[in-house]
Amino acid sequence: MAQSENILQAFRMAFFSEPDWLVRAPGRVNLIGEHTDYNDGFVMPGALRQSIYLAASGGGQPSVVVARALDLGEDVELPLGRIAEDAPLTGQHWADLLIGVVREFKRRGSDPKTALGGTRVVVGGDLPSGSGLSSSSALGATFALWLNQLLRTNFDGLDLARIVRGAEQNAIGIQCGIMDQYTIFHARKGEALLLDCRSLTAEPVSLAGIEARFELWQSNVPHELHETAYNERRAACERVVNWFESKSVTHLRDLTIRDLEKAGDSPEYSLTAEDLVKARFVINENGRVLDFRKAIENRDLRGMGDLLQASHLGLSRDYQVSCEQTDFIVEMVCASELCFGARMIGGGFGGSVLVMLQAESDDLFEGVKVDYRRRFDLNLERMEVEFAGAAAILPA
Ligand code: GLA
Repeated sequence: MAQSENILQAFRMAFFSEPDWLVRAPGRVNLIGEHTDYNDGFVMPGALRQSIYLAASGGGQPSVVVARALDLGEDVELPLGRIAEDAPLTGQHWADLLIGVVREFKRRGSDPKTALGGTRVVVGGDLPSGSGLSSSSALGATFALWLNQLLRTNFDGLDLARIVRGAEQNAIGIQCGIMDQYTIFHARKGEALLLDCRSLTAEPVSLAGIEARFELWQSNVPHELHETAYNERRAACERVVNWFESKSVTHLRDLTIRDLEKAGDSPEYSLTAEDLVKARFVINENGRVLDFRKAIENRDLRGMGDLLQASHLGLSRDYQVSCEQTDFIVEMVCASELCFGARMIGGGFGGSVLVMLQAESDDLFEGVKVDYRRRFDLNLERMEVEFAGAAAILPA
């Protein structure tokens, strides 16, 4: 059964009525450009077919929103008072993100309290959570897009991306960049985007004619403490920027490798060597995004694969956001001639590995899967990357 039909049925079973709205928001894949978005740099993401769906209707108890997470088999009642009062959230529960989105609407002058009274919501889908594929931004995006309809707020895609990012930053406590949310609201079917996170403008990148397959291999590593480690990386980047004490240096995007070398050699340099190593990774990764685009234009498959390899090495060794399991997957798959390159994607500390393979390479996955289970007692899963369109309201 199609995912959208699944969610409609779940709604009927939960509330014995038809929903008024159905919303889809996709997961995101990122070809290259990791941890560059919050440094005002470049990224090359796209949307996945795998998505989160939300079905919603009005009516019922006036003071609460009833929300059901299909995959968790869990219902929550969100008292509207808690939403409004700015009560502290732990950020550990999926419904906190929904509250976070409502608060972002409020911050922008639109109080959803009255309109939300008695609404019923079911969320679910085929986008796995905890796999570094932005399931949390996708969940926030479905809710934001629905509220935009319900409240007739007319926010555009960029406003909505900022709303969802704000909810993740303030309600979940992850100081994330804009890549995931921007992609979810602006992606185009069949294409990736080259997004400049400074100007927030994107060019489409077509992979037509690239004789390779992209897959996502999910490590199924439970990623704990992910927020703390992520925020620490961001803080390291900001320390380096601040050390320069220059108006023209607001983000690592404004620095070159030479600037970092000069800083490191300066007697006044007061930060750690590790901070400089992290900053160097970001500057190099930014360059790799632009080189990757050139490699695509030149149909240089080996060049693309080498850039993926270099990206992974930097993420693992210098930025230190990989883990034993994702390093293992990359090493195993890259040992084969059938693989052009592979790298961990997203924030890190588990999640998925993007694998660029020759068209005929089916048995490769099964072999790595067996070795992976033997070594870590974890299940390796995969999905084919099919670039899908942006978040949208579907006919309910
Ligand atoms: C997470 C964040 C993004 C981005 C990536 C790393 O997915 O939400 O903003 O920083 O990590 O590239």
